[in-house]
Amino acid sequence: MATLLHSGSIRKQFPSLQRKHNNLPMVFLDGPAGTQVPQSVIEAISHYYSTSNANTHGAFITSRETDDVIQHMRQSMAALLGAENEDTISIGQNMTSLNFALARAMSRILQPGDEVLITQLDHEANRGPWLTLTHFGINVKEVILKSDGLLDYDDFASKINAKTKLVCMGMSSNCIGTVNNFKLVRKLTNQYNAWLLLDAVHYAPHFSIDVQSLGCDFLLCSAYKFYGPHVGILYSRPGLLDRLPTDRLRTAGQKAPYSIETGTLNHAAIAGVGAAVGFLASLGSGGSLRERLISAYQSISEHEYHLASKLYQGLKQIPGLTMIGQDFSAPSRTPTVSFTMKGKTPWQICEHLAKKNICAWDGHFYAIRAIEVLGLLERGGVTRLGISLYNTEEEVNLTVASVNTLVGADI
Ligand SMILES: Cc1ncc(COP(=O)(O)O)c(C=O)c1O
Repeated sequence: MATLLHSGSIRKQFPSLQRKHNNLPMVFLDGPAGTQVPQSVIEAISHYYSTSNANTHGAFITSRETDDVIQHMRQSMAALLGAENEDTISIGQNMTSLNFALARAMSRILQPGDEVLITQLDHEANRGPWLTLTHFGINVKEVILKSDGLLDYDDFASKINAKTKLVCMGMSSNCIGTVNNFKLVRKLTNQYNAWLLLDAVHYAPHFSIDVQSLGCDFLLCSAYKFYGPHVGILYSRPGLLDRLPTDRLRTAGQKAPYSIETGTLNHAAIAGVGAAVGFLASLGSGGSLRERLISAYQSISEHEYHLASKLYQGLKQIPGLTMIGQDFSAPSRTPTVSFTMKGKTPWQICEHLAKKNICAWDGHFYAIRAIEVLGLLERGGVTRLGISLYNTEEEVNLTVASVNTLVGADI
């Protein structure tokens, strides 16, 4: 399987990878901000508009087809996440708006004096919505991020207690690639009967997920990070969403998965999400959709880890570069590599890479608290290079060489 990822047959499925700009190929290392999209996803979206564009729950063919498209997507996402059934899968505009909707609902059941734990490492999308609960007398505490890029689990243990009702943490960091110890945190939350909400937005493109063995209560992800369109997805443990007083119209579905979904959804994009899961499954082998996805993720993780560790090692040799976060001896790490360079701002580095069509991001990537705690906010954050399944060794070599040419250069 790993050879299939190297073979180029996958790259051919992505029209944008064939693009040239200024006669040079494109090098997409911006995956953590959104991956490129394969032809099958583009076709699914286009097919929906060409054939089945309608609203839901009607007696006529296009409406019935729309219902099927949405059901297929929920089933596909349930397979991707190892969920109990399709009713655990709710759909939203993006992860951020689903999380705000959850936080609004939680504000109606939590009592003043209750506590919620968030972390300094998380994306603002998993902090901001929960910080709004302070307006209702709820105490929101944050777990400390250490300078080595790991969360402080002693601090975690000291801040969780019988008043903690909810812990919200990322599975992995979109800014420095740390994979958090969510199994340990589940043990802690179980001890105090607190709910656990996991932000899997940066984890889902790289590793398989099993919500049942994780034992999480909520998990959020975003399809545009795993080769699909801009759609947010919420998994909620069976029975849980039904108990939450979400914003809902009298006319809307009152139960999971509908009770957190508002208005008409983006049906065409939903068709694309189903196709994105199908694309991922096509990279694996096995009988069921779930088996194929697990096998595909094994190849994806191996391929990406190989390239990212090569990228990390290559960059580390460059004089004046400081690598941020865990190195690749960490037991688990996403293929997202961040660094700073003496005498150059992250923006200047990205501008330089852009001349070679290397798409890289600079800044804090909305993980602003982490960048602030690491003392990098005033200096423009970090340069972030993210490996996705379609990246190649040649692209890694080109990128390391391009960063190298910046040493001592006047820009
Ligand atoms: C780790 C993480 N969480 C949450 C989000 C927010 O996702 P969305 O854009 O779907 O709201 C992002 C987006 O970059 C992310 O990387």
